[in-house]
Amino acid sequence: MSQTVQPLLQVNHLRKNFGAIEAVKDVSFDIEPAEIVAIVGDNGAGKSTVAKMIAGAYRRDGGEMLWNSTPYDPTQPDDARAIGIETMYQDLALVNDLDAAGNIFLNREPMRRIFGVLPVLDRGQMRSRSADILRRVKIELPSYDRPVRQLSGGQRQAAALGRILLSDRARLIIMDEPTAALGVQEQRKVLDLISSLGEAGIAIMIISHNLEHVFSVSRRIVVLRGGRLAGVVKTAEVDRQHVVSLIVGGGA
Ligand SMILES: Nc1ncnc2c1ncn2[C@@H]1O[C@H](COP(=O)(O)OP(=O)(O)O)[C@@H](O)[C@H]1O
Ligand SMILES: [Mg+2]
Repeated sequence: MSQTVQPLLQVNHLRKNFGAIEAVKDVSFDIEPAEIVAIVGDNGAGKSTVAKMIAGAYRRDGGEMLWNSTPYDPTQPDDARAIGIETMYQDLALVNDLDAAGNIFLNREPMRRIFGVLPVLDRGQMRSRSADILRRVKIELPSYDRPVRQLSGGQRQAAALGRILLSDRARLIIMDEPTAALGVQEQRKVLDLISSLGEAGIAIMIISHNLEHVFSVSRRIVVLRGGRLAGVVKTAEVDRQHVVSLIVGGGA
């Protein structure tokens, strides 16, 4: 289908130990530009550890990573962000007392001057730019000036995403179980959002144990089992049973 596309990210033979635990043993896969790739596997399969190595949160113990065919060796999350790899964490890292616009612009607030002297936050600009950013990925928030703690889970995710999109440099967003804490309707919205991000040219690496979600948004599925790569499949070419058999192993 697309053998000539140059991968955005390649991970080759990744390894990570925690003391005597070999959490990730030999994992290789790639992600193409704007591709939505799902990572699946049982609890403890190594999914989050792989994500954290890519995101610069953990140092790998072996293997290599390439970003646009260039060696990529992050030592901290800022190294990942600098080249366009962002992570949406499960706790979302939002400031609950701030509104959505305040969260999106946290530490990057535009200022204006009253009477040409007193610097104050330019809240109007923060709100209108926040709405612009989220509209690009087809999100409307009901309010940009209510504390985010009053928003629903899906709306909070939208605010966290707005923060990632503000700098306009994200090329890959890693999402670890983004639908896990949400109600059914909100899950659907987050899946739509993931598809919109792909259409906007941003690659997504989504970790999920929900195969229905995985099948509805991903182009390829990477299966991990016991820290090893159990398979990489094109979503359109397999059924759920096949993926389940890769997850649990043992079968033919
Ligand atoms: N910080 C850590 N310290 C020690 N062991 C860890 C740590 N993180 C993960 N592990 C272990 O590594 C293995 C893989 O964990 P993880 O990557 O979280 O799996 P998954 O996300 O697929 O559930 C598990 O055995 C887990 O207990
Ligand atoms: Mg995990």
